[in-house]
Amino acid sequence: MSQFSEELIGRSGYLNEGFADVYDRYRPSPPRGVLDVLCFVAGVEQPKLVVDLGCGTGLSTRAWAARAEKVIGVEPNPRMIERARAATEQSNVRYVEAYAAETGLPGGQAELVTAWQAFHWMEPQPVLAEAARLLRDGGVFAACDYDVPPFVEPEVDTAFAALMQARRDARQRLSIPAGATNWPKDRHLEQIRASGRFRYSRELVAHGWRETDAERVIGLAESIGGHQALLNERAPEVGDAFARLRETANRVLRDRACLELRCYRLRIGIK
Ligand SMILES: C[S@@+](CC[C@H](N)C(=O)[O-])C[C@H]1O[C@@H](n2cnc3c(N)ncnc32)[C@H](O)[C@@H]1O
Repeated sequence: MSQFSEELIGRSGYLNEGFADVYDRYRPSPPRGVLDVLCFVAGVEQPKLVVDLGCGTGLSTRAWAARAEKVIGVEPNPRMIERARAATEQSNVRYVEAYAAETGLPGGQAELVTAWQAFHWMEPQPVLAEAARLLRDGGVFAACDYDVPPFVEPEVDTAFAALMQARRDARQRLSIPAGATNWPKDRHLEQIRASGRFRYSRELVAHGWRETDAERVIGLAESIGGHQALLNERAPEVGDAFARLRETANRVLRDRACLELRCYRLRIGIK
């Protein structure tokens, strides 16, 4: 199991020098409204414990600091977790370097186990077994993903979507599978149901806003990873699509701050 994840992380670009900084700078934190939805589903105002699987640089973990009594982020990539630790001041947040299926944490204590933009990286069934073990009765597992690109401006979004398509095409042509190739996000709910470990499951939708500008749009695209491997000679069309996004964002948005609307899909299972 960890060999699969190790290989995936190895070819993701997420271990590259400096990547964790770009990621932490340009990726969004979960908005408060989405945390409210998760607390509502779990039937708690202030969770005693949240476990965040695949926490990366801790954006999705730190978001709980003011809301939960205790939060634990779980992440196997040493560079990402190093960045998470460096970026976290809150004393009720800690990190464990581990794979999601083998966290080593005590069972039956969490009210929420989350995987933000991360469940498609993981072999679902062993991770769901671990999530169910970590949860108390009535606790909630939530695979939380946002649509990419977010809505910013039609011309910019079109250029962003073209970059994403160029990446998918290049991956296919070069046989470089992404995490979601094996475990697509739109099948998360099926996986939750198939596990037989949750008495109720469904998909919820929510949204969040944040301020953005040309630099942040371009940074978000850079934070998607895998570029380096794809760009070097083997897929110049990805570099071209990236250059078009840069040009479009700079021309359309200039220095203008604007809003980004993000659409979240929450696939939840209640134990
Ligand atoms: C796209 S990042 C999401 C990070 C963070 N949750 C966020 O919202 O920004 C996905 C993370 O999942 C981690 N990951 C991949 N396979 C994993 C596994 N088997 N167990 C735990 N984490 C894993 C990756 O190393 C990566 O940091």
